[in-house]
Amino acid sequence: MPVSRRIVFVFFTLILALGGCQLDTGVKVIKMGHAQVVSHPVHQAMVFLGERLEEKSGGKLKVKVYPNQQLGTERELLELLQIGSVGMTKVSAASLEAFSPEISVLGLPYLFRDDAHISQVLQGEIGKELLVSTEKFWLRGLCFYDAGKRSFYSKTKPIETPADLDGLKIRVQESKMAINMIRGMGGSPTPVSYGELYTSLQQGIVDAAENNPPSFYNSRHYEVCKFYAIDEHTAIPDVVLVSLEVWKDLSEEEQRWLQEAADESAVYESKLWKEAVEEALREVQKAGVEISYPSKEPFLEKVAAVSAQVFQEQKQLEALVQRIQQTNK
Ligand code: GCU
Repeated sequence: MPVSRRIVFVFFTLILALGGCQLDTGVKVIKMGHAQVVSHPVHQAMVFLGERLEEKSGGKLKVKVYPNQQLGTERELLELLQIGSVGMTKVSAASLEAFSPEISVLGLPYLFRDDAHISQVLQGEIGKELLVSTEKFWLRGLCFYDAGKRSFYSKTKPIETPADLDGLKIRVQESKMAINMIRGMGGSPTPVSYGELYTSLQQGIVDAAENNPPSFYNSRHYEVCKFYAIDEHTAIPDVVLVSLEVWKDLSEEEQRWLQEAADESAVYESKLWKEAVEEALREVQKAGVEISYPSKEPFLEKVAAVSAQVFQEQKQLEALVQRIQQTNK
């Protein structure tokens, strides 16, 4: 992180003091930071979560949402949650890789068969186990948000086959899995935080990136990247988390309200999501983006070795992937 940003970050951390604070009025306000822009459906879902919580608690428990990386990047936010300086966040499961090795399997390319399979896994036993797996790291996963499927967008030419990635600098999330995937496909992975990506694309620090349609559209990356190739290589969900420190400070009743509000916001988000995908594809096309649907096979072939390498390094993940593949078969 550049020095100037680090100073701002430390300053914010200090002045924000506690992630969940009790005001003189007896009202508790939990700070929730995230990286997305306010027009994005996940931001709207977090606002909805706050509204539901306020209603359930009769105004005694509130959430204040800070979007746009105002409180830090996803990685920084997770660290702030661990020490209780920020109370809640919503991050991509890819950002949780360093905090819960089990969750990293969600970043494996072409892991799921279809949308039904994704929700069977995330809403079922495995999903629950993955949310709980973050507790060892002073975090508590509350629910998943749908983050659709990620595909490539690029500045100068469409990415129709893995050969088109050759020589291109591809922005990836701060995730080893994503780095290995892009390398496996033949591109040069470059980790950049989401908030810095627009400028990085503009300045040519990276030539391409990958994301779901609502993020491509709402971040305005389509202004710089005029090719969007829907190869849907990963389906990495978002995760809503609360700091374990803050969670433990809540009464049982407050914990129940928060969990229910999070679950309701996940249902709301998945409704918003479907419309948001359609709107995003429509709008970027209107703005001159060329959308293509390349064959997935050549990408799939290229990444077969990625899973093998992951299992070699972390044996326990192989069994988890087998359970995912067996789910509702
Ligand atoms: C998705 C995800 C974000 C994440 C972003 C990224 O949009 O919802 O949480 O920051 O991808 O690529 O970094």
